[in-house]
Amino acid sequence: MSGGQRLLLENAQQVVLVCAQGEPYLVGEAMRSLAVLENASLVVGRDGCIKAVGLADTIRREFAKVSFEERIDCSGKCILPGLVDAHTHPVWAGDRVHEFAMKLAGATYMDIHQAGGGINFTVEHTQKASEEELFSTFRYRLLCMMRAGSTLVECKSGYGLNLETELKMLRVIERARRELDISISSTYCGAHSVPKGKTPTEAADDIVYNHLPKLKELCQRSEIHVDNIDVFCEKGVFDLHSTRKILQRGKAIGLQINFHGDELHPMKAAELGAELGARAISHLEEVSDAGIAAMATGKCSAVLLPTTAYMLRLKQPQARKMLDEGVIVALGSDFNPNAYCFSMSTVMHLACVNMRMSMSEALAAATINAAYALGRSHTHGSLEVGKQGDLIIINSPRWEHLIYQFGGYQELIEYVVAKGKVV
Ligand code: NIG
Ligand code: FE
Repeated sequence: MSGGQRLLLENAQQVVLVCAQGEPYLVGEAMRSLAVLENASLVVGRDGCIKAVGLADTIRREFAKVSFEERIDCSGKCILPGLVDAHTHPVWAGDRVHEFAMKLAGATYMDIHQAGGGINFTVEHTQKASEEELFSTFRYRLLCMMRAGSTLVECKSGYGLNLETELKMLRVIERARRELDISISSTYCGAHSVPKGKTPTEAADDIVYNHLPKLKELCQRSEIHVDNIDVFCEKGVFDLHSTRKILQRGKAIGLQINFHGDELHPMKAAELGAELGARAISHLEEVSDAGIAAMATGKCSAVLLPTTAYMLRLKQPQARKMLDEGVIVALGSDFNPNAYCFSMSTVMHLACVNMRMSMSEALAAATINAAYALGRSHTHGSLEVGKQGDLIIINSPRWEHLIYQFGGYQELIEYVVAKGKVV
């Protein structure tokens, strides 16, 4: 073999491939028996993609005559895929720590929302913030997420509501997509709340007739890139009818459907998502049995958000039932001013303790299945040859420590490699 390679990670105690056969997602038993190699090494090529992964002896023989730009001795450590955060709201101005105190004193999420706080509070501040200011805090948050092991993150707009601010947010996301090492899946979430002075129907019409055509034009001119369309389908926000209208129009302009549903009230959002061919539905604390069945059949992934149920003391989504019925379960941090958590290892920990997922299931949900929820599992979410060189190295001989340790002990994650680069 001739020509040099970018990076050699050698002699790891464990390399958690997650999957090894090009599976686009894992369900059922496959989530409980992840592909793990003992005493293994991994090679990243100059193109930033995984060139080889296998037993240390085999890789040593195969690459004996090859030069590497960089080598890391991984003895006593584990290599895992970069974590994928399938749901975040990271672009905003306006701190809401005061609302945490209100919630601890007994106010519900909707009490605060209806009193003009919550999303509305963040919208007011985000509308006033400059693009530069938004970029700078967003960049910092992405670096925190990357430090915590996330290498692909879904990022939503949705604190603008008016066209001008929604586009400002999408430009900020686009700039990060182009400038930073972390990979981004961008989501237009103009239907995150109903703007003051509008009815839900008027807001939905504004999105369908004004926002989406403009978005299409900007995407066609490659000024921005948008992957997904989102709606907060909830009682008192967007009902099923408006949600359908917005999502259908989004799909018609080429966006993947990925929306908030069945969170605080049963809305039949899961049934709607499955019918419309949604890639993913988030939250689902109040999903119906029929909704779960429809999602399993329709290969519509469930993005569960353990931080939200925890922060708001909601009933937990029925992760076990979804897993048993073959739903593609993914995880997200839901990072936003209501759930201020950057760390997918904390999210996995909460999913295990509060939603009764096993550690293998949680890792599959935070890697290959989260990548599937974003339509990126052909390039992300597992350590397979040809995929992007996104991975983490933890300073522990057993990979489960990534989930077992909690409370932000980030020294455990010793290296983060994104697009083949040690960051
Ligand atoms: O996913 N539920 C709607 N959206 C967010 C909360 C956003 C906010 O409170 O600012 C969520 O939890
Ligand atoms: Fe959300």
